[in-house]
Amino acid sequence: MRKNIVAGNWKMNKTLQEGIALAKELNEVLANEKPNCDVIICTPFIHLASVAGLVDAAKIGVGAENCADKESGAYTGEVSAAMVASTGAKYVILGHSERRAYYGETAEILKEKVKLALANGLTPIFCIGEVLEEREAGKQNEVVYSQLAGSLYDLSAEDFSKIILAYEPVWAIGTGKTATAEQAQEIHAYIRKTIEDRYGKEVAENTSILYGGSCKASNAKELFANPDVDGGLIGGASLKAADFKGIIDAFN
Ligand code: PGA
Repeated sequence: MRKNIVAGNWKMNKTLQEGIALAKELNEVLANEKPNCDVIICTPFIHLASVAGLVDAAKIGVGAENCADKESGAYTGEVSAAMVASTGAKYVILGHSERRAYYGETAEILKEKVKLALANGLTPIFCIGEVLEEREAGKQNEVVYSQLAGSLYDLSAEDFSKIILAYEPVWAIGTGKTATAEQAQEIHAYIRKTIEDRYGKEVAENTSILYGGSCKASNAKELFANPDVDGGLIGGASLKAADFKGIIDAFN
């Protein structure tokens, strides 16, 4: 069966020292706990090796927030999937709406990133989601379908099975405006149905689909109680150990 997952996305926050302190705190907070979900923290590149080296890998997985769409070579400033994997990180967020909007990441570029992540043994946490005008026009299903088909649906069933999806309505990210539990369930069920149409029921049932967008301890329980919401991708509320733990506890 699919896993329940709570994943943090630190975005461009925390110096190295602050990030190490947060990872240590989270590690301590979870030391005597048995979370009912997988816990992942995705950090800026420079934190990865330190954070992966200090957390209890049996309890906390570590991931990057991006990787390059090229294998290696003359791409100044880029970080490859192989480099990410060499830090001990096991995951990589790909297709976050901020990367699509501010760094011009297209479906084609993301397809390359997904391939390279998988080839290097990383689990992509692949983000999809509509902007406000698309939601208001009732186009959210069309949008997420084209994001899925455009970057993932050429994968073999075996490769697709390695992917974690995160539905993040752009209008809910960092805005304090969360999708309602009903809105989340409705589109998660639609996403799962499109996976079933493409890869069959077993793959669809085994795919974890996380919700992201102003998810916090106070609304996580209601969101995660939906049958097709398998956890969350958490931005702001992952920056304090107590807030993040409050979301992990939504699965207790
Ligand atoms: P947020 O961000 O929780 O701060 O809304 C979620 C995300 O962008 O992954």
